[in-house]
Amino acid sequence: MIRIDIATLFPEMCEAVLGESIIGRARKKQLVEIHCHNIRDYSPDPKHHRVDDSPYGGGKGMVMQPEPIWQCYLDIVRQSGSRPYVIYMSPQGKTLTQQKALELRSVPHLLLLCGHYEGVDERIIEKIVDEELSIGDYVLTGGELAAMVVTDSVVRLCEGVLPAEECYQNESHMNGLLEYPQYTRPEEWEGMRVPEVLLSGHHANIEKWRAEQSLARTRIKRPDLLKDDK
Ligand code: ADE
Repeated sequence: MIRIDIATLFPEMCEAVLGESIIGRARKKQLVEIHCHNIRDYSPDPKHHRVDDSPYGGGKGMVMQPEPIWQCYLDIVRQSGSRPYVIYMSPQGKTLTQQKALELRSVPHLLLLCGHYEGVDERIIEKIVDEELSIGDYVLTGGELAAMVVTDSVVRLCEGVLPAEECYQNESHMNGLLEYPQYTRPEEWEGMRVPEVLLSGHHANIEKWRAEQSLARTRIKRPDLLKDDK
């Protein structure tokens, strides 16, 4: 079973997301183990629980200090008895892809580190971080939303979380293409009919139609996915 720890200044924000829906159910069924930790609890400052300070060399904003993150990390190692693969959520990282999510589901223990303010002291990155990961070329106020995206994309691929592997095998990005269009009842809605082939019960024709649709809509919506030099 995969274990994911999340180190953050806003654990309630993460718990609110990860306690619901499919991920919440997977946790209750003990298909995954997820723990959110408040970095502030590890501050060496007993009075104000301070975790940040102004940057050396000047400049705006605050930088998260290394010690509270380090102590949080050591506690996670102690609690779990294993050294996690540490991912720092950062717009400087490589962008998350479905391929990356598939790789991460095989890592037994992940720690997602969420920065805030102007980021974290570079020394904690040197000391514990194995990889930086971004969810896109834009800047968020903190790593929490990005960590939720990574957690969701990984956990839904773990054994038993979705009812069957077919649930995601044909999805967009699983084979480098976008998924074919889906329809459900009624057969006609607002004058628009479901494509006849889907009502035919002819499985080979349906497969063929879906494969063509997949390719055609990838060409139109995401031609960049079809380029060799992606
Ligand atoms: N923190 C701030 N912006 C981010 C992004 N785009 N991806 C991951 N973490 C972030």
